[in-house]
Amino acid sequence: MGTTLPTQRHVYVETFGCQMNVDDSERMLSFLRSTGFKAVEEITQAELILVNTCSVRDKAEQKVYSTLGRYKAFKKARPELVIGVCGCVAQQFGARLLERVAYLDMVVGTHNIHLLPKLVERVAENGERIDATEFRDSIGQDEYDATPTPGRGMVKATVSIMRGCDNFCSYCIVPYVRGREMSRSPEDVLSEVDSLAESGVREVTLLGQNVNSYCGVSRQTGSSTDFPALLKLVCRREGIERVRFVTSHPKDISTELMGLFGVEPKLASHVHLPVQSGSDEVLKRMKRGYTRAEYMGKIRALREACPDVAITTDIIVGFPGESEEDFERTIEVVREVGYDGAFSFKYSPRPGTEAAAYDDQLPSEVKSERLERLQKLERELRGSRDALLEGSVMEVLIEGPSKASDEELTGRTNCNRVVNFPSPAPEVAQAMTGTISEVLITRAYANSLRGRISERSMPCSIK
Ligand code: 5AD
Ligand code: SF4
Repeated sequence: MGTTLPTQRHVYVETFGCQMNVDDSERMLSFLRSTGFKAVEEITQAELILVNTCSVRDKAEQKVYSTLGRYKAFKKARPELVIGVCGCVAQQFGARLLERVAYLDMVVGTHNIHLLPKLVERVAENGERIDATEFRDSIGQDEYDATPTPGRGMVKATVSIMRGCDNFCSYCIVPYVRGREMSRSPEDVLSEVDSLAESGVREVTLLGQNVNSYCGVSRQTGSSTDFPALLKLVCRREGIERVRFVTSHPKDISTELMGLFGVEPKLASHVHLPVQSGSDEVLKRMKRGYTRAEYMGKIRALREACPDVAITTDIIVGFPGESEEDFERTIEVVREVGYDGAFSFKYSPRPGTEAAAYDDQLPSEVKSERLERLQKLERELRGSRDALLEGSVMEVLIEGPSKASDEELTGRTNCNRVVNFPSPAPEVAQAMTGTISEVLITRAYANSLRGRISERSMPCSIK
């Protein structure tokens, strides 16, 4: 027998993984808020606990079991508590999670976030245990209706423009757990951008596994819009000051898109362009669809279009069969490009993917040793690049007081670096929040920059 949820309802969400998952968790909260839930930071106050999972790397399934293990005692003490697993692991293992964890109430897949309020009611009222992991064959506005409306004062937000991926890189679980590529209609994307701008958001990041293959069909005219066209429309929306996007696949980033850098003034000059490996042999076995020379050609074209564009990347080390020479090729690319940031990972076999079945898997020590070498090099290169920033003036979108101190403001540069600087008087600081200001960089640390607001950026009255 189930129980009816009390009128004052609280939800605690634990999120693992990428920006896409953070965006999904926001969406979960929005749908739940619309039926009277309030998010809480303290798990003991919650009547509903959701674990939003990621299965891209690491031991995803085990991580879910250990997280749920921590919740067992809560469920024992309060049997009316509802516990759900959402996200990629939910999608992948569905009913198996319900079988293995007796006190788990529901498993909600990546296409069913919008159903959460109804599913929670079914669990609470009928005591059902639910597996909601079926895929949808379309993407609809109903899934985004409760789009996050951030409170006043929130300066930046993400907007999902598509979901899924059709690329099937041989190491990657995403196409299996997020399904085929589907693009939202341009009207839906733009109306979400407008409502965010109205609530005070000044920077939006357009999200998709491979935004370059966005192809949104208008629900009004039936005509289609590609990514460069969507990006231009978003850049020109009233209230929006800065636009970013992730992720670009190197094989699909077009000359037209690259040409927008330095031309669209609101487009942040930053591209995340995952290289994954510098070896043609490894790239082929990864099924990435480009060679190292083609990748370097895109880097050159980007820099020609916009000489100070910031470029960041993802790298996998220890892919099956990666030789020491292959790894050296990756090191060469890192040196040649001079990335503004690199996220590097040890290859992790994902159940069901092609590369997980390759018979030349590398020992864990080899992967660890290569990762360490790569990250050491990356730190050194970044350190010397960062030092060059000292003394330069950067455009910073001011987000508000820093977490560490009310006497500091924080913001991000075009290339997404955090900058902290002394705050002017409170009323001035408030007026500057949400604006792009020039900041003189005085010190570069590993994870943030320090600066002081440039004279030119101060409102006239206090110069
Ligand atoms: N092992 C290690 N890293 C992976 N990534 C994706 N799948 C795997 C895997 N099986 C990395 C890629 C991708 C980033 C999001 O995660 O570098 O770009
Ligand atoms: Fe995964 Fe490749 Fe798709 Fe990126 S492009 S989500 S790495 S399959």
